[in-house]
Amino acid sequence: MIVKPADRTGKVQEYYFSQKLAQIDRMRREGADIINLGIGSPDQPPSENTIAALVSEARKPNSHGYQSYTGIAALRMAFSEWYKKYFHVELNPDNEILLLMGSKEGIMHISMAFVNPGDEVLVPDPGYPTYASVTNLVGGIVKKYDLLEKNGWFPDLDAIEQSDLSRVKMMWINYPHMPSGTPGSFALFEKLIAFSQKHRILLCNDNPYSFILNKKYLSLLQVDGSMETALELNSLSKSHNMAGWRIGMVAGHNEYIKEVLKVKSNMDSGMFLGMQMAAVEALNNPESWYDTVNAIYIERRKIVEKIMDVLGCRFDKSQVGLFVWGRIPDKIPGCENYVEEILNMAHVFITPGFIFGNNGERYIRISLCANEKRLAEAKERLIKMMG
Ligand SMILES: Cc1ncc(COP(=O)(O)O)c(C=O)c1O
Repeated sequence: MIVKPADRTGKVQEYYFSQKLAQIDRMRREGADIINLGIGSPDQPPSENTIAALVSEARKPNSHGYQSYTGIAALRMAFSEWYKKYFHVELNPDNEILLLMGSKEGIMHISMAFVNPGDEVLVPDPGYPTYASVTNLVGGIVKKYDLLEKNGWFPDLDAIEQSDLSRVKMMWINYPHMPSGTPGSFALFEKLIAFSQKHRILLCNDNPYSFILNKKYLSLLQVDGSMETALELNSLSKSHNMAGWRIGMVAGHNEYIKEVLKVKSNMDSGMFLGMQMAAVEALNNPESWYDTVNAIYIERRKIVEKIMDVLGCRFDKSQVGLFVWGRIPDKIPGCENYVEEILNMAHVFITPGFIFGNNGERYIRISLCANEKRLAEAKERLIKMMG
């Protein structure tokens, strides 16, 4: 390369799945029938009325221009009503909600808005890898905090407080937690809000999994006083089977939202009206729609649990969300080679836990985003592989 890339690119690597999907693609081109149980991209469609709204809006000649930077009023209102109905949280649709292209971009915008070079950011281990990579991209310093099975995958705030927190600016949490499937609790959120206030830390809950195999809808913003220090991300990707649409939002105090908007409005120019009108429909699905989607995941999970048994992995049956997270047997040296072996021998791809941090080393994660036939096929192949 004649032209050197910016230093910040040296601090991150290509996303694990981006590389892995390329490998799977190569294997498929060579004729292998790979069953991908890696990624949490829902394979069921959005509701009919969602799609109908997109089509009807797309046919109108005047739907195709730039839209508001904050999202159309009808969609902010729909998000506000959705939060009220399911989370019992009141949000002013005019200034406490900002539309995003999925919650992933919100991680970047929030970090750009609040993290200075040299600021420390508390990031869960294991956790969604983007929190750490975005922190690195904006020049922040990643300060991992442990989530351990023996603590129920909850942070040990006393242990965190024993370290120097004076340079910590932000903390990422994600309940329901990916990858462990831990649902979180109101008592935990209360403790975390008190912690964030005491240390003047911006606390951000990334909350895209609330509606998957879970009925206790929890929001960090339910805690009294949370608006002083907290933001929450949410998304239609998993809850409404709309991962490819890229629709999410960030909610919080209008002063915080204003800062995020400063960044975002310089990066994109709103989202296609048809998608926004369709998202309004999605958010207005009856509650029974979530039950229908979950009924399918319940059946799939039964097979995935059997796959975990076949592999000799231990797992908690009360997990929520789109995956099952299991501990590999002690005799297996590590998850990375194990997963590679399974891919090469059984042509089944499973996510190794190490990509979520050191505390994920002894775990694997299996997605529920494949139909029962494919899951059963994967199980049969693994039974054969285990001999
Ligand atoms: C914890 C977590 N946060 C955010 C995302 C990204 O969601 P979105 O599609 O809304 O950007 C994912 C997707 O896998 C996730 O697991």
